[in-house]
Amino acid sequence: MLVAQITDCHIRCDDEGAFSSLVDTSATLAAVVEHLNGLDPPPDVVLATGDLTDDGTPEQYASFREIVEPLTAPLLPFPGNHDHGPDFRKAFADLLPGDPGDLPERHCSYVVDDHPVRLVGIDTSKPDHHDGCFDDERADWLDGTLAAAPDRHTLVFTHFPPFRVGLGYMDVAGLTGADRFEDVIAAHPQVVLVVAGHLHRSIHAVIASTLVSVCPSTGFQLDLDLNPARGGTVDEPPGFQLHRWDGGRFVTHTGMVREGRRLDITGFVEYVLGRAERGDGFPKG
Ligand SMILES: [Fe+2]
Ligand SMILES: [Fe+2]
Repeated sequence: MLVAQITDCHIRCDDEGAFSSLVDTSATLAAVVEHLNGLDPPPDVVLATGDLTDDGTPEQYASFREIVEPLTAPLLPFPGNHDHGPDFRKAFADLLPGDPGDLPERHCSYVVDDHPVRLVGIDTSKPDHHDGCFDDERADWLDGTLAAAPDRHTLVFTHFPPFRVGLGYMDVAGLTGADRFEDVIAAHPQVVLVVAGHLHRSIHAVIASTLVSVCPSTGFQLDLDLNPARGGTVDEPPGFQLHRWDGGRFVTHTGMVREGRRLDITGFVEYVLGRAERGDGFPKG
């Protein structure tokens, strides 16, 4: 099973966004979509883990939908702090699993159960706020949802990473209840991977005994500057992740989409595979 992840697309309809105006986020998302469509093997599903638009307006959602429309793999949209709950639900009513009435009223958490790995999305975004919360209601939902299928390998996806990363301004406005989130994950060892967004960088940490992988943005990245008094956005290449499930574990690959040179080494690949098949080993020289 191959899970592609895109995040923090920050689609806007003009250049009003101070952070996102560094790059043309529509153009970079389109480039990522084209890249994903060219993958062989193709992803089975594309998780879009929040901040799909800059302001959560219907116009921005319409623009997002137009850009991702060519995607050949099914898209699972998920909200972040830059999205707007009611408009998000309206914009993606046809893509969210189940009937609209199946979703919790106060958060857009959901489960997709028709893959080899169970996909559980926990929405910790807070209406009208840029920080997130893992409160009683969300903790009960996640704990109960995971308890319902203890024997199914599970990937949990969310927008806010449940740990502090050293980017001070992101940490102080991050997730309230991260310790509790870790406790819930620890209680359900079938969770083999947690994936998140929000930080606009590729970042990894372990909570309980589970890897949390943060996916870079399809638009702009946050400058890797751990000085607590500074912050910046940078036009590093748009990114995505591929989480490859081999039946026993996930391996996460981070991809960047940019113009660049490529040397084809298919002949070398055939040589290596041939030696492996014959059991010849790989001596130098
Ligand atoms: Fe974002
Ligand atoms: Fe965010």
